[in-house]
Amino acid sequence: MTVATHFQHKDGVLHAENVSLEQLAHDFGTPLYVYSRQALHDAWNSYHQAAQGRDVLVCYGMKANSNLAILNEFARLGTGFDIVSGGELARVIAAKGDPSKVVFSGVGKQRWEIEAALDAHIKCFNVESVAELERIATIAAEKGVKAPVSLRVNPDVDAKTHPYISTGLKDNKFGIDINIAPAIYAQAQQLPNLDIVGLDCHIGSQITQISPYLDALHKLILLIKQLQDQGIHLKHLDIGGGLGIRYTDETPATPTDLLSAVFQALDAADLGHLQLVLEPGRSMVGNAGVLLTQVEYLKSNQDKHFAIVNAAMNDLIRPTLYEAWHDVEAVRPRNNNATISYDIVGPICESGDWLAKDRTLNLEQGDLLAVMSAGAYAFTMASQYNTRPRAAEVIVDKQSVHLVRPREELHSLFESERLLD
Ligand code: LLP
Repeated sequence: MTVATHFQHKDGVLHAENVSLEQLAHDFGTPLYVYSRQALHDAWNSYHQAAQGRDVLVCYGMKANSNLAILNEFARLGTGFDIVSGGELARVIAAKGDPSKVVFSGVGKQRWEIEAALDAHIKCFNVESVAELERIATIAAEKGVKAPVSLRVNPDVDAKTHPYISTGLKDNKFGIDINIAPAIYAQAQQLPNLDIVGLDCHIGSQITQISPYLDALHKLILLIKQLQDQGIHLKHLDIGGGLGIRYTDETPATPTDLLSAVFQALDAADLGHLQLVLEPGRSMVGNAGVLLTQVEYLKSNQDKHFAIVNAAMNDLIRPTLYEAWHDVEAVRPRNNNATISYDIVGPICESGDWLAKDRTLNLEQGDLLAVMSAGAYAFTMASQYNTRPRAAEVIVDKQSVHLVRPREELHSLFESERLLD
């Protein structure tokens, strides 16, 4: 899914599927995260169709959006999950996801998280260091079980994306140096409580081209061949997530572009029998959501014009953290030509509290705006900074609306805090 096709203007008002965003603002207030159920299905279908009936497991990278309703929807469509914490595992279970389709990534897995994952019988640990491999082996031995493991290797390829979301370079903290992976696999083979099941790699996020994947895949194939020579035969290859979406004018590669190239390379290397695991996050949800907000005030400091809205960096941190561009659309655009260029900013006491800069819009106080492409890494990165309750989330399904997380109540923000005696 690359374009927000389920958010369209109808009769001059922006809709989510068949429901007007004006109606949603009226019923639920703002700021509000609004998701389209059909967009979630379309995103899943784009992977499902790209799989062409081959053995592919989509493990949704749930850090992008982990609302239980969304996890449950994907679980019902057949996805597994890529988790990075014990908390995410608990969410999968709460959402009735299948733990046997869970892969567990992340460089800092704690003992309790490894225990919980073993108890839940997950599909695989994506192991990111020798120390972690040893810890998993020890805990598995204590429990008298075998832990299924893959090594997450760092192939040292440039994903050509923002440095903060690039993970496959040797300077990044992620994965095990691919050059020493054969030796670490040999070490794992000696540990009786480990079951080597796969090989994993994730090179970054918002990747719009196929070439970085193929650069990595080339190295992975050489490694798999070397492992075969060592008598290690893998069941699956996990190439991570990372496919980008359209925020502005990007033309990202599609799942079909990616998978057909991957199948071709695997078949050519006589590795077509391997199950292919994918960990897409952003491309499953990014354009399935918008952040709806309202203009509280307009103000000008000499030549600079600000639209102060009621959403802020605590609701969507991507602009200030990565200088990310999110399109901003008026829910009811005016016909007359816009001439003023606004910075769209929130109420938080930080100059970094901005959602968009230099947007030419025709605005009045009270207008509703939709910050587009806010389905991924928006709510999951939200905070309560400035004691702002996290906003509500709704899913629109044709003309129905489901409140899948109510707006946080003020008292819940501090009810567990205690005064000193
Ligand atoms: N697998 C692993 C091991 C990951 O670390 C990630 C994302 C994914 C899968 C999913 O990647 P995706 O398909 O969503 O690109 N907060 C940043 C993105 C951070 C991505 C972290 N890892 C942003 O808002 O752009």
